Amino acid sequence: MTDTTRDFLIAPSILSADFARLGAEVDDVLASGADIVHFDVMDNHYVPNLTIGPMVCEALRKHGVTAPIDAHLMVKPVDRLIGDFIDAGASYITFHPEASDHIDRSLQLIRDAGCRSGLVFNPATPLSFLDHVMDKVDMILLMSVNPGFGGQSFIPGTLDKLREARRRIDASGRTVRLEVDGGVKVDNIAEIARAGADTFVAGSAVFKARNEADPHRYDSVIREFRDQLARA
Ligand code: DX5
Ligand code: ZN
Repeated sequence: MTDTTRDFLIAPSILSADFARLGAEVDDVLASGADIVHFDVMDNHYVPNLTIGPMVCEALRKHGVTAPIDAHLMVKPVDRLIGDFIDAGASYITFHPEASDHIDRSLQLIRDAGCRSGLVFNPATPLSFLDHVMDKVDMILLMSVNPGFGGQSFIPGTLDKLREARRRIDASGRTVRLEVDGGVKVDNIAEIARAGADTFVAGSAVFKARNEADPHRYDSVIREFRDQLARA
């Protein structure tokens, strides 16, 4: 790790939350110290699963959620849903380059609305998609599992890819967050941080770790993440 001043953000994926009480789950995880709400949008077309859309994002805003909402679009095509998520109050909007016919335009749509933009890389997707748009991304999201489901195991090859992405960000001299998504746990988060990530999505690791003493809190696991990161 070259930059020891990097700030680390924890982004619980609500994919693993109890959907029947989603507003309360988001309140609880934020009150437990999470920084960002990671919002997984799956369309049963680009990925083999179907989840939640812009109406749910808007409902969370109406419920009173003020924390950044990180909309991870696993959908194809992307542009119309980008507009819908802008209107629904998303803070970050990321999409998979393979799912857009006009990557530059899709990124610009997000930026023009004042949202933060990002590209998402599946395990086999090359980082060369960044070559001509590095100035148009606020976030690079590396998938450390194949997208579609929570609870999968971290693919170790992601560590080398994180190092490469970190090199690209440092070489650009820009402020770009490097997020990792899939299989992030207390026992691998430090190694993932050392490879260059600064923003950590964790779904099952967080939502399966409700505090025993207080079922409305997830702060033990979030504290363990921060302890690990402090030593990274
Ligand atoms: C997978 C999603 C992830 C997922 C992560 O396609 O993008 O955000 O919820 O879940 P865990 O942390 O359980 O691997
Ligand atoms: Zn995700």
